[in-house]
Amino acid sequence: MVDKQALKQKYQTLAKKIFEGNTIQGFAKWKSTHYKFIAPAKKEYVYQWFWDTAFHAIVLSNFDLPWAKSEIKNHLSAQWDDGFIPHIVFWGGNYLNLPHWAFIESRFNFRPRTSALTQPSVFPIAVEIIYNKDKDKDFLKETLFKLAKHQKWLLENRDPDKDYLISIISPNESGMDELPVFQYALNYTGENAARLHYTHRKVDLLNHLFRFNNKKILYRDYFNVEEMLFNTIYIEANRSLSRLFKEIDEENESEYFSNLANKGEVSLLEKCWDEKDQIFYSLFSKSEKMARVKTVASLMPIFLDGIDKSRLNQLVKFHLLNPNEFWRPFPIPSVAADETYYFPADTPAHKIKLLWRGPTWINTNWFIVRGLRKHGYNKIADQIVENMINMVEKWGFREYYNPETGQGYRRENFGWSTLLLDLL
Ligand code: GLC
Repeated sequence: MVDKQALKQKYQTLAKKIFEGNTIQGFAKWKSTHYKFIAPAKKEYVYQWFWDTAFHAIVLSNFDLPWAKSEIKNHLSAQWDDGFIPHIVFWGGNYLNLPHWAFIESRFNFRPRTSALTQPSVFPIAVEIIYNKDKDKDFLKETLFKLAKHQKWLLENRDPDKDYLISIISPNESGMDELPVFQYALNYTGENAARLHYTHRKVDLLNHLFRFNNKKILYRDYFNVEEMLFNTIYIEANRSLSRLFKEIDEENESEYFSNLANKGEVSLLEKCWDEKDQIFYSLFSKSEKMARVKTVASLMPIFLDGIDKSRLNQLVKFHLLNPNEFWRPFPIPSVAADETYYFPADTPAHKIKLLWRGPTWINTNWFIVRGLRKHGYNKIADQIVENMINMVEKWGFREYYNPETGQGYRRENFGWSTLLLDLL
């Protein structure tokens, strides 16, 4: 049995070192402002990402509240006037050193400042975790209205069928880039990496061509996914907002977000549950077809406050704890082991990089572990944490891990993997 307190202390020191090492700061001429943020890693991921920032802030809330708040505020300072929060802010990047995809995912052809895509709304959840530690109402007043504006933006611009489930317009908006769910949405179920890559790029190119006009994009229906992880987080983020608005006596806003959460939850539970497989699937296109492939996103509703006991039990007993699906030696794999798309090892370096096709990621584990604890499955939660400790002790804080062997892959000193410390 490991000494959790000592381990927590050790991970705290490591996380601080990683965050310091990955911090980037400077002056952004395009905004006439100084910026300072933690990049996900030292190589390649050298910009500020939306949900990564939330995860970094959650970790920081364990030992440095002012730093946690400044990470959130730095990203929020790049929010668009209409409320939209972009998934990447290219703070110091200019057109000479930005990667090609930055131009495609941005509305600005020559000088991308931010992407025109978003990512799951983890910010309200992070802000609530931070607030619960020091009850700083000024921080709430500074952030809540901005966060509320983004949630309302999503509802106005990304819910064409008015069912309170949000549509994403690119696989990257899910945060789980090449999750096999999107192959269904794109009608390419083959395994040729180049072709797969191309089908994804085509979505982003079309979005760019349509200048990220959501109405046009969703009307054309070439990529419209009511995705499970994105929507679970959207719903719980609305619950966090509801609770937090109450703290600053904004009763109307509090009620608004509580209703929004409940309506989204009812819709999700009703529409995304598959009776045959007894699991949740994302929906795609206007006709809301099910993407019938089991991924970690199918388990995300465990994180919902209002999921009913019977479906919760099904998810945990028959899927999470099923050794043929998700209960591998180092759970939870991003794709169930009995799917043809399950590739537990890393993509070889010389091949096209494909993410989220089997390996275990610590950020998705964070949601499931928190969800399990919320509903009283403490033993299972502890078991997952125990396995993550073994993984991290042997391989350090890597980008993702092999669910069969625990081997860590790709970027080292990867920011959000320190979330493990928040679960101890
Ligand atoms: C990868 C992940 C995405 C993350 C980004 C930066 O693209 O799929 O979720 O935000 O890296 O870490």
